Amino acid sequence: MTAITDMVDYEVNDDGIAVLTVDNPPVNALSQGVRQGLLEGMQKATADDDVKAVVLHCAGKTFIAGADITEFGKPMQPPSLFDAQDAIENCPKPVVAAIHGTALGGGLEVAMVAHYRVGDPNAKYGLPEVNLGLLPGAGGTQRLPRVVGVQKALEMVTSGKPIGSKEALEHGLIDKIAPENQLLEAAVAFAAQAANEGWELKKIRDRDEKLKEAKENPGIFDGFRRAIARKTRGFVAPEYNIQCVEAAVNKPFEEGLKVERELFMKCMTSPESAAQRYYFFAERQAGRVPGIEKDTPRRDIRTVGVLGAGTMGGGISMNFANVGIPVTIVEREQAALDRGLAVIRKNYERTAKKGRMSMDDVERCMSLINGSLDKQDFADCDLVIEAVFENMELKKTIFRELDSICKPGAILATNTSALDVDEIAAETKRPEDVLGLHFFSPANIMRLLEMVRAEKTADDVLATSLDVAKRIKKIAVVVGVCPGFVGNRMLFQRGAEANRIILEGVTPARVDQVIYDFGFPMGPFAMSDLAGLDIGWDEKTSSSSSVREILCESGRRGQKNGRGYYVYDTETRASSPDPEVEQMIRDFAAKQGIEQRDDISDEEILERCLLPMVNEGAKILDEGKAIRSSDIDVVWVNGYGWPVYRGGPMYWADQMGTAKVLEKVKAYSEKLGGEHWKPSALLEKLAGEGKGFAQA
Ligand code: 3HC
Ligand code: NAI
Repeated sequence: MTAITDMVDYEVNDDGIAVLTVDNPPVNALSQGVRQGLLEGMQKATADDDVKAVVLHCAGKTFIAGADITEFGKPMQPPSLFDAQDAIENCPKPVVAAIHGTALGGGLEVAMVAHYRVGDPNAKYGLPEVNLGLLPGAGGTQRLPRVVGVQKALEMVTSGKPIGSKEALEHGLIDKIAPENQLLEAAVAFAAQAANEGWELKKIRDRDEKLKEAKENPGIFDGFRRAIARKTRGFVAPEYNIQCVEAAVNKPFEEGLKVERELFMKCMTSPESAAQRYYFFAERQAGRVPGIEKDTPRRDIRTVGVLGAGTMGGGISMNFANVGIPVTIVEREQAALDRGLAVIRKNYERTAKKGRMSMDDVERCMSLINGSLDKQDFADCDLVIEAVFENMELKKTIFRELDSICKPGAILATNTSALDVDEIAAETKRPEDVLGLHFFSPANIMRLLEMVRAEKTADDVLATSLDVAKRIKKIAVVVGVCPGFVGNRMLFQRGAEANRIILEGVTPARVDQVIYDFGFPMGPFAMSDLAGLDIGWDEKTSSSSSVREILCESGRRGQKNGRGYYVYDTETRASSPDPEVEQMIRDFAAKQGIEQRDDISDEEILERCLLPMVNEGAKILDEGKAIRSSDIDVVWVNGYGWPVYRGGPMYWADQMGTAKVLEKVKAYSEKLGGEHWKPSALLEKLAGEGKGFAQA
């Protein structure tokens, strides 16, 4: 074996098959050394008369997973990926890509310049650049439609979702699926056969039979645009991806490449892509927690207990059953248990109806969920998650009970959304085994998991919980104990200010529109209606002291009874503003002596909703309740629908600059007063030092 560079090795076997092996852990990204190695390796194989064919292969867990994102925004070090690709595509000997793991982005673009592709049965193939606000910039948008057809290519480049080997074979993206664990042998044999039998050196660029259908039916593009419009609202990259595929259909290959190049640069320099690339690393950074190392001991989690089969308990249980972990779900009475289990089944069956799981899967998952009315059944569970009503006294009683029932070493978690986890942990004789696992609703779908590290939570408990989160495919963000933790604590501030704005004469619908236009899926009032206005509302103590109380007192519960801040069509669930509610708000404002204004701009609405969140985020950071500012962004993007193309609240603030943020916060503070407008000490410090939250 010869090292071409420190990232690419070269070896020729006795049959004259050269194997070029990329070895650039962790994901074999196309760093400079890889591009150089591929180029020189191909030159060497081309020049060597003893070489009949070449196999491109990767060491480690995956084929090339894309361009090296850490090189983006820096001057490009030659050779370019195009140089390496040209050397592959123009090689006068057959080149076969041997693909395992994930051939993504630039990785798939490299595979598509090979003359043939052999895939491991479990390999995945995709162009996920759109998730980084980009488009495939190395010929991917021009080659993919030529090989899989226009419709499939459009789907793949705009969703970023990879396909598996079976589908890739059906669409002609690969030529053969290797037997399990025999990829390299199969690819080498394939290459030898191609060379010995003189097979054609297929270049995808020269093919256009799969473009024909779209050439004859140009409406396909606008139809596709319409179909994805709702999902891609606010993003710029999906449209540019479509334009590139259009160019593949309507222009010669080289011209199409030019369009791709031009639009790639447009994406690369867009603020949306910068935010999405920032977010990619933010999400991975969240997994790094001080004090938790690879060698921190882990506990074995084989069985899980869930207390409460309500909205959250049911969803939480599904996460575990989905990955094959048995769950014991305990309720206080049979009717509630039956109801909870029926909801779980209904959810699974709905998924099956949509074709996303089989009925066998439904039964398999249901058989992993065992209902019970006896907490003693938690005795053998390795992890127990409490999801009963949000009531401190109840939770305390329950944790005392769990302490007496659960085996030593079991992890005891609470799903509380705002209560003090230290206080709950103190009820047990093992506070080191207690933490908060704050799932978001619907818990089987939302990916965020706020992991509340209480004062005494042991490192191995946190480390184990982080591993569990990965197993159930959640994105965990470690947070500290404080009311509402990170997400809800910031949400409270936005809610408080949004409520002030409506008292000054802006309708709830207009506030919601501004927040929607910013990129959230819905505004604060639509969200309250969806969650239910009566969450935490108590009829006995209600005293018409807020708009929400007044709405609840008048029988408005939100979407669930068709009337909240909006009225809802009983059939379509479509919302419309309600003049009656607007009058109620005006009456309440008059009682409070709040002056109505007609000069509130959209900009003011947006700033007044978002800046208190940033200010609160700064306080959270200052108190050490979040490890880093990017963790706050991960919470907001994943848990509350902050548009990822705007990075997250702290990133958004950094783009504005902390000095500017402080100036605005101070101005609103003077004008409006209130605790949530008092500038955080950290914000003042950073603004003074000319630093952003990312440098805090
Ligand atoms: N460049 C640089 N680093 C990368 C990378 C890339 N393309 N992809 C992953 N990494 C790093 C991660 O940051 C992480 O680093 P860390 O351990 O220091 O945090 C490490 O590799 C492992 O990544 P994951 O934790 O995500 O590992 P998984 O096994 O869960 O997932 C993966 C592997 C599916 C490859 C996933 O990392 C992924 O989706 N990567 C991005 C793929 C992508 O977007 N490719 C397209 C890039 S753009 C491009 O190719 C442009 C081209 O058209 C010119
Ligand atoms: P829920 O009212 O839907 O469910 C609670 C369930 O607990 C009920 O089925 C009830 O019968 C059961 N229960 C009550 N006392 C019990 C006991 N002693 N033993 C066994 N079961 C008992 O409530 P939901 O919404 O599921 O909330 C549960 C917890 O999750 C709360 O702490 C809440 O703050 C938190 N949470 C709720 C979210 C939401 O959006 N609903 C989001 C995140 C957290």
